[in-house]
Amino acid sequence: MKISKFIENPSDFSNNLGIELIKKILVFDDLNSTNNKAKQLAIEGEDEGTIVISRIQKRGKGRFNREWESPEGGMYLSIILKPDILPEKSTLLSLISAIAISRTVSSLGLSPEIKWPNDVRINKKKIAGILIESEVCQEKIKYVVVGIGINLNIHTQNLSENIKKLSTSILDEIDTLVDYSDFLKNLLNNFDKYYKMFLDEKYDEIIREWKNHSDTINQKIVLDTNTKQLKGKIVDINEFGFLKVILETGEIRIINSGEIFFIEN
Ligand code: BTN
Repeated sequence: MKISKFIENPSDFSNNLGIELIKKILVFDDLNSTNNKAKQLAIEGEDEGTIVISRIQKRGKGRFNREWESPEGGMYLSIILKPDILPEKSTLLSLISAIAISRTVSSLGLSPEIKWPNDVRINKKKIAGILIESEVCQEKIKYVVVGIGINLNIHTQNLSENIKKLSTSILDEIDTLVDYSDFLKNLLNNFDKYYKMFLDEKYDEIIREWKNHSDTINQKIVLDTNTKQLKGKIVDINEFGFLKVILETGEIRIINSGEIFFIEN
């Protein structure tokens, strides 16, 4: 299969990017995980705005300790951020990342939807995932790494059995290879825009935009807590990005982490 070119000239690409947030782009051929590399760099003092990108990942990581299969043709990147915010605001970084991906995917004529907090899906199949890792010290964030994986120019039929039935890709959806650098530039522009909105504390605007791109509100769900499964209905999302759920018992719960599963309405 013909593969759309990975970043051909990294220094040209970063010199011509012109995005305020993005200060440095580190391009690799095969890392274990761009998140691990970015975390190591952040700990060593790398500044906000450095991006780590790899053509493939040998041990890509997903949420809940899952693997993120990362063959050639997909997009795998991690953004180092060092915002001066309280840790409880960090869920909003998941939301803005998902909005940025959604807008970029939409620009190809597709209609993605975000499942809380940050799975980007088309017809209920996952096209992109986000893994946020951070270090907090005395209620202050030392760094945040936003890891983004997008099924770009890959055929999901080549992924493993249990993953492929839940996944789709841009190539599967539009049957055309997308230019890697153009897509990345578009994505980073969108990320920059919503990150600024986040730093400007325009949380209402972020939540409104997220709701526009999401199919989560009003869904009946099963929620997996560590100890039991709870059933309920999502009624809203608050200014921190936490879900408000009414349980079958009538009890109201605010959910700030974990995995939700939609059930028939
Ligand atoms: C998920 O939906 O489970 C999150 C998937 C996140 C995958 C990306 S790929 C780039 C970055 N590096 C990793 O090891 N994981 C994230």
